[in-house]
Amino acid sequence: TQISRILLHSKHLKHTSIPWLQPQVSQPGKNVQSKQLRMPSQSLFNKSIALLFSKRSTRTRVSAETATVLLGGRALFLGSEDIQLGVNETVRDSARVIGGMCQGIFARVGDHSEIEELAKYSPVPVINALSSLWHPTQILADLLTLHEHAHLFGPPPEQQPNAKGEKPKGTILPALRPLTVAYVGDSANVLHDMLVAYPRLGHKLRIASPENEKYRAPKEVWKRVEELECDKGIHWCTDPREAVQGADVVITDTWISMGQEAEKEQRLKDFAGYQVTEELCREGGANPDWKFMHCLPRKPHEVDDEVFYGPRSLVFPEADNRKWTIMALFDLLFGKWTLLAGERKL
Ligand code: CP
Ligand code: NVA
Repeated sequence: TQISRILLHSKHLKHTSIPWLQPQVSQPGKNVQSKQLRMPSQSLFNKSIALLFSKRSTRTRVSAETATVLLGGRALFLGSEDIQLGVNETVRDSARVIGGMCQGIFARVGDHSEIEELAKYSPVPVINALSSLWHPTQILADLLTLHEHAHLFGPPPEQQPNAKGEKPKGTILPALRPLTVAYVGDSANVLHDMLVAYPRLGHKLRIASPENEKYRAPKEVWKRVEELECDKGIHWCTDPREAVQGADVVITDTWISMGQEAEKEQRLKDFAGYQVTEELCREGGANPDWKFMHCLPRKPHEVDDEVFYGPRSLVFPEADNRKWTIMALFDLLFGKWTLLAGERKL
């Protein structure tokens, strides 16, 4: 699938780039660095990437800026306080102008329609850096992290030794056995991308969100889930204990997404009992070796410190992987994409 291709490319870029960031110490008489290190792809050389962010960001922004440097390009951070967009200028006109000067747009927006509008009028590719409905680059990092920790979940069936005791040779991206993934929390952008990605890769999703339509995936998201036939791999309930039953991985996100601050009090009440803890997962019957992931930023009411900072937690490798997956997307979609004369839209 496209997802697997991007994950494999992320892993390749990570392998190529990390030695450049942490060069091996040269042994006396030998210059290890110049002999062994390969230059990461320089597909963004002489190119500029617009980071159009109308909301806060740590991971996505820093990943995008540092990945662009490694690919030889320059990222322009354009926050909503800096540019005319949304105050004196429309999305349509901004897309045309910024897209006329830059070779790619990575945009974090409010309403999802803004990303659609940008993509419609930009002459260069636009990647969603988070919208009200979706957070696609987060899910790529999560999947890369799970693949890299595949050994914690046991071998996938095809990697078990054959009758002669031989194991198939692995690729750079370790294969992952089909997992049961529980999500306990709000139906927001991060979960929505999980809904359309995990079942397609053979993983089961078990979700708990409070009893209220607003905590369930909206129609346009569910329509996409059904189009991709992902609904068969999804069990949705209201009891967090039911959701974590048999879970190999437990995931949550903030209960109060950016832009929902006014609902804080109500949401804290509605999500009472949804905190991810050892006790919840034990009582719910999770796999005793369950692992934990969170896109971050995290609040302690969503997951306690014991889990968040404990040995089950993959949250920091997950955060690091934002960089490599975003780098893979930039390389493939911004770097290797060529602007064909005559195809520019006005
Ligand atoms: N996970 C994530 O998107 O984090 P930031 O909001 O800090 O970019
Ligand atoms: N659901 C969260 C994700 C933050 C990375 C939000 O939209 O604020």
